[in-house]
Amino acid sequence: MIREFENKTVFITGASKGQGRGAALAFAAQGANIIAFDLGEKISYPSYNRSSNEDLERLGEDVQAAGGRIEIFAGDVRRAEDLELAVNNGIKAFGAIDILLSNAGICAYGTSHELTEEEWDAMLDINLKGSWLASKYVIPHMIKRRSGVIIYNSSVAGLRGMNRISHYAASKHGLVGLARSQAIELAPYQIRVISIHPTGVNTPMNDGLAELEGLTPQEIAERSAGNLLPVPWVEVEDVANAVLFIASDKARFITGSQFVLDAGLLTR
Ligand SMILES: NC(=O)c1ccc[n+]([C@@H]2O[C@H](COP(=O)([O-])OP(=O)(O)OC[C@H]3O[C@@H](n4cnc5c(N)ncnc54)[C@H](O)[C@@H]3O)[C@@H](O)[C@H]2O)c1
Repeated sequence: MIREFENKTVFITGASKGQGRGAALAFAAQGANIIAFDLGEKISYPSYNRSSNEDLERLGEDVQAAGGRIEIFAGDVRRAEDLELAVNNGIKAFGAIDILLSNAGICAYGTSHELTEEEWDAMLDINLKGSWLASKYVIPHMIKRRSGVIIYNSSVAGLRGMNRISHYAASKHGLVGLARSQAIELAPYQIRVISIHPTGVNTPMNDGLAELEGLTPQEIAERSAGNLLPVPWVEVEDVANAVLFIASDKARFITGSQFVLDAGLLTR
């Protein structure tokens, strides 16, 4: 059986949990080499984050069990040197990066006038600047090869206002501008750039937001979502299916656009 991403290499930030992990396993099952980047340790904001090296090691075992090859890098997307090292060493290991899934992100609540500067900066630095930094080190390599796909994991919050997460929504709207502008810069090199916009996804982030609010994950999803289809959330496999399609040649003329996976939420 021919696997769709045989001999392709995917660099994934935020790979050890949630949607990043789901995409890593789905790409590996289709023959891709994985370069996985994640924190490997806890960060203080948001407090739900309990990242550890064990998460990355577990991903490594699971990708290998699925017959895939993986290189693992612990680092913070806020640190340029961590990303540069992972990109360079990942290319040394696998020879190329064909796809970047810029996915690492955080979320937390607070009305905009009550947020501290530290909270605002952490949100924008991880979700927006960190995404740009990952692309900064991958793009020159893709330009040389005149080929590549960059996918930013934004959110429905990148396309609408949302209550008590203005810093999150601002960071996710920022990814739309980044993706659309990079699509213009990179089209001459056959590099496509797309942002994706999932509604609530059943991941440790959703569990973490529930923890912050003292609610159940189901209550959090229902409160923030308002999906048209009668589901509280979508699953990581739904996002992985969309990501694999966008990364594939079936989507060869899709660039600069926003791929919405919202169970109908944005109709309201
Ligand atoms: N869960 C949702 O409802 C939802 C919906 C739409 C979009 N998103 C977006 O999808 C992306 C993935 O979210 P998820 O639901 O899988 O969340 P998650 O919290 O389950 O996983 C996010 C991963 O990113 C990593 N990460 C966080 N900060 C990092 C940093 N500074 N450097 C490196 N890695 C870091 C975490 O350690 C974690 O492994 C995020 O950008 C998120 O904003 C989430």
